[in-house]
Amino acid sequence: MSSGARSGADGVLRRRGFLSVLAGVGSGVVAGMGCREAGEGKVLRLAHVLDTRHPVHAGMEHMGEAVERLSEGRLRVRIYAGGQLGSERELLELVQLGALDMVKTSASPMEGFVPGMEVFSIPYVFRDEGHLWRVLEGRVGRALLDLGVDKRLKGLCYYDAGSRSFYTRGRPVMRPEDLRGLKIRVQNSRAAIRMVEAMGGAATPLAFGELYTALDQGVVDGAENNPPSFLTSRHYEVCRYYALDEHTSVPDLLMVGTPTWERLDGREREWLEAAAEVSMRFQRELWAGRTREDLETLAGAGVEILHPDKVRFQEAVRGLQASYRGTAAGPWMEAILEQG
Ligand code: GCU
Repeated sequence: MSSGARSGADGVLRRRGFLSVLAGVGSGVVAGMGCREAGEGKVLRLAHVLDTRHPVHAGMEHMGEAVERLSEGRLRVRIYAGGQLGSERELLELVQLGALDMVKTSASPMEGFVPGMEVFSIPYVFRDEGHLWRVLEGRVGRALLDLGVDKRLKGLCYYDAGSRSFYTRGRPVMRPEDLRGLKIRVQNSRAAIRMVEAMGGAATPLAFGELYTALDQGVVDGAENNPPSFLTSRHYEVCRYYALDEHTSVPDLLMVGTPTWERLDGREREWLEAAAEVSMRFQRELWAGRTREDLETLAGAGVEILHPDKVRFQEAVRGLQASYRGTAAGPWMEAILEQG
């Protein structure tokens, strides 16, 4: 089957899965909880768009195991992976409605719901991995997790999503000028659009699940992501150049909807929070090793892994940071830049 036909079939299956799961979730909601299975405790439904081989998926599995262990089986998590229930934007909307309990999303599409979250997609706002994690685990990171509560979205923890770099079909992006005339898929994020435009490319927002076909059919010339996502999405089958300019370090977020949160009792909330915390540490430890291995796998598969001069990319977007002053992301950006 061609990948085009395959992804067409995937689309149909995804929509079917979406409807049947929603039917189940709907009846659970009427019963007063995401889902309650006779004699087996509560089950929370968690959805995301990544492949099950992805290290962020491993983090969520770890979280599910921890919840089950801590609650002695009274609270469990069922994971719907691979975008079978929809795009991140759709999943966030379901969670807001209480039709889905939890979502793992990139922080980028969150900015459409919680404007301050745009801060995570400002290029080169984090100096390095250590700076990123001091922010995420400190006062600023914790405050940002709670920023969406009045939009019915409560953050439980972050997962490491490393840094994002350009991958392209026809030619490598070694300098921002190489983006001229290229259509680059970005997430549903104003900041990501502005970044690609500042660097000289044409930004095309698309859902992650639609990207393989868009690359394959030449609708876009390239995209940008971290190594595990580039590998597990199989985008490398089409894009043979991966230039590690590491322009953003957008974390992933595990969110629970406040409609679900309010239905949990004190103990259940504690189990969920403790499990999220444990899974964040587990996933973070996994990340560096998996990134290294995945880069080797990509190189083994014939992808050219390139190390462009990052300074050129930083210079191309230098003016962007100033433009955030006075926006919802502005104070967060200042706090991040001041973080030691
Ligand atoms: C990363 C992130 C996903 C996101 C994807 C994207 O892989 O972990 O949550 O959907 O980027 O580019 O859309």
